[in-house]
Amino acid sequence: MKRRILLLFILSISVVPLVAQVQVTNLLVENRQEPLGIDDPMPRLSWQLLADKRNVMQTAYEIRVSPDLKALKQGRKLSWHSGLVQSDQSVLVPYKGSELAPGTPYYWQVRVRDNKGKLSKWSDPSFFVTGLQQAANWQAQWIQVGFKEQKSRPSPLFRKEFTSDKKLVQALAFITAKGVYEAEINGQKVGDLCLAPGWTSYNKRLQYQTYDVTDLINEGNNAVGVTLGNGWYRGNIGFEGKVDAYGDELALLFQLELTYDDGSTAVVLSDGSWKSSTGPIVYSEIYHGETYDARLEQKGWSEAGFNDSGWSNVEVKNYSKTILVTTENEPIRKQEIFHPVEILETPEGDQVIDFGQNVVGWVQLKVAGKAGDKITITHTEVLDKDGNFYTESLRSARQQNTFILKGEGLEEFEPHFTWQGFRYIKVEGYPGELKPENFTATALYSDMELTGSFECSDDLVNQLQHNIQWGQRGNFLDVPTDCPQRDERLGWTGDAQAFARTASFNFRVHSFFDKWLKDVAADQYANGGVPYVVPDVLNNKQVSPGWADVATIAPWTMYLAYGDKELLETQYASMKAWVDYIKHVSHKDLWRPKHSFGDWLFYRPFDDNSGMSAVTDKSLIAQAFYAHSTQLLIQAAQVLGKQDDVKVYQDLLAQIKHAFTQEYMTPKGKLVSGTQTAYVLALHFDLLPEELRDQAAKRLVDNIRLYNTHLTTGFLGTPYLCHVLSRFGYTDVAYELLMQKTYPSWLYPVTMGATTIWERWDGIKPDGTFQTPGMNSFNHYAYGAIGDWLYRVVAGIDTEVDQPGYKAIRIQPQLGEPLTYAKAELKTYYGTVVSGWEKGVDKVTLQVSVPVNTKAIVAIPASDAAAITEGGKQFSEFKEITLVGQENGRVLVQIGSGDYLFEWPN
Ligand code: BGC
Repeated sequence: MKRRILLLFILSISVVPLVAQVQVTNLLVENRQEPLGIDDPMPRLSWQLLADKRNVMQTAYEIRVSPDLKALKQGRKLSWHSGLVQSDQSVLVPYKGSELAPGTPYYWQVRVRDNKGKLSKWSDPSFFVTGLQQAANWQAQWIQVGFKEQKSRPSPLFRKEFTSDKKLVQALAFITAKGVYEAEINGQKVGDLCLAPGWTSYNKRLQYQTYDVTDLINEGNNAVGVTLGNGWYRGNIGFEGKVDAYGDELALLFQLELTYDDGSTAVVLSDGSWKSSTGPIVYSEIYHGETYDARLEQKGWSEAGFNDSGWSNVEVKNYSKTILVTTENEPIRKQEIFHPVEILETPEGDQVIDFGQNVVGWVQLKVAGKAGDKITITHTEVLDKDGNFYTESLRSARQQNTFILKGEGLEEFEPHFTWQGFRYIKVEGYPGELKPENFTATALYSDMELTGSFECSDDLVNQLQHNIQWGQRGNFLDVPTDCPQRDERLGWTGDAQAFARTASFNFRVHSFFDKWLKDVAADQYANGGVPYVVPDVLNNKQVSPGWADVATIAPWTMYLAYGDKELLETQYASMKAWVDYIKHVSHKDLWRPKHSFGDWLFYRPFDDNSGMSAVTDKSLIAQAFYAHSTQLLIQAAQVLGKQDDVKVYQDLLAQIKHAFTQEYMTPKGKLVSGTQTAYVLALHFDLLPEELRDQAAKRLVDNIRLYNTHLTTGFLGTPYLCHVLSRFGYTDVAYELLMQKTYPSWLYPVTMGATTIWERWDGIKPDGTFQTPGMNSFNHYAYGAIGDWLYRVVAGIDTEVDQPGYKAIRIQPQLGEPLTYAKAELKTYYGTVVSGWEKGVDKVTLQVSVPVNTKAIVAIPASDAAAITEGGKQFSEFKEITLVGQENGRVLVQIGSGDYLFEWPN
């Protein structure tokens, strides 16, 4: 008996850790854990606090930073000691110490004082490693192959041997390429990244990567080998088979810095002494796949002692190094693995494997056969209604990997410089039977942290959430792409702006957008126009409303989601240039653009005799986004203290709105386009006079009813549709739209077996036939923008705008039939926010978690404050819960950090 009690006691300790005082954890530098290659002279530091009590805030912090780990702990040799700073800031605190040296590890720790007056222990030390910082620190030279390339452009290899004969303490490699690269040292891959250096506006910004390769270096002889691929740089990217978007020759830049324990250093640099050749990758293209001929492998080519006498010299090139920038976002890495769920033979006789999930990445296979045996794997997203392998919607993208065996026992293959969007593969030429254990599908995407989850009592909505997250995984591959499978895979700006807020819930996309928005600014035209796609490989100098507005919408969204003022400051010139562009091309405050995608992919019935197509006037859309962008610019100017701009653009906004109502609204408030998108944009962007808003919301609902409670919106109206309904008191209608299962609706594709979001509401029609193959992707995230409403309205997690990044939280769930429960969790920089409600027979519960160092207002959907309990008690008994008021049938309470369970009668 005694032993059982003891056991229980021990168990309870390990399950609920008792944190006596505040604990400082999860140290981040520039949003990442222990990052390498920090080039910002004032990198921003963040940390999280844990406490076992409620209502804990930080009142002061103390940071120390040192290049010497031992000295750090003793408080010596500090490059920065902040002293005790009275502040509740724990996110994005800028380093303000002495100048950071390049290629150097820095260790740091932090302690805090809380609002109970207690000082925490110092956190465990964390570190960051600085990058090369500036062009002058690159001693390496750009090199290219020294032989004439074949037409098929096989992937070139580069190699170099070197010795390292002292005791090594650190080896850092800095690598980039024009093209994509994989590096090896002594036969082992450097790092675990895929498709490095990623995709940027290469002519203006080319990222390099920093690797700690200390463990790969031998004492004595060593070798480095690098393979290059065409990638985005010169492969086929863009329309009409376009190649060489940035140049027609691949090049490598490699710098290895060795530091020895006697304090001396050495470097290994790409230069004229390297050798070049070709290897087993005989063909590689992003859209079309890779051909790997194992018979052409050169055994030991990246190891010392390899005979490279048959290799060619290299050519040294004087390419710019001033365009080099460090990698600020999470790199592409291998992620989830899928196994075959079915191996089948189609009616047409193809051998097909189904992985059960539309995934973006590639297939790895194991095989034993004869030298020269050739296996071809073709990838696609769907089977047709007869169960045959369907590739028409891939357009010209072949999505085909070919592996040629060397015939030496069990061989394993995967491609290198390509990726595929698929659920099904067709296997040809495989020697022997297809067995599930020989095929795996690996997802590839930017290694962002999964931060959000949403679940509710309806399985179809849960599958929708799954599809939204998988659409994001597949299309957040270093840049936000429209689709990952056909001959496109471009950074369409409209899609990105529509999905940005949803994206910020599902994953931590802070650095992802930070990086991409710099490319938006870099590729912005001299007149302020913003391209259709970024990086801009279309190069057509055109803009479209709702696409170009990514320049204002995405920075503002990132500011809200992560509280990053610096990002807003960095993007401000781009935001302003975009609004100024519209102003410049407008006439009498009206913007009527020449080109516009309009409300892309809105509802449009076939053989539309009664005029049910939901066409929204393109100029009306343009004017609405002109107002919205101007509004966001004003907000940014306010945050950044640019009062002059606030005034100028407020005046402009008033004129834009006036022009909108004059041109597109009757005196009674009817819009010239009666579509859902027209009313949604006018209401969401506050374009209508106050007194005409309710009637407009009513017209929106009437329109939804006209279509038997179906949405008709395209890419531009969809993100805001349910938000507008819930804002104007029609949350019930929003729920009806959410739950709608027939086309057009969010759940229709789910009922058709979708595992990702489709490009079109009816990619597969009810009779099993497909939409037009010219544009029919089954992995296109734009319509997944409903995710934002699931998180912010159904579960009710939002940030207060004046304390963004969830420093001050708003929990305001809007319950709706037929859901009986819904719950979301969001990992913010402060910790995890939870909001989950459940409707029982006679009571409703609301579970809320608020991280340390934040506060929340909870808007409880109950009419009688006295009937609400927390943890079974009247909440007036708790100091940390304050009743702040009542509004619209809700009781508002303010709470400090901690976990809460509110209950009230149903
Ligand atoms: C892309 C879309 C994009 C659109 C604009 C399509 O081909 O896939 O997502 O926004 O073009 O025209």
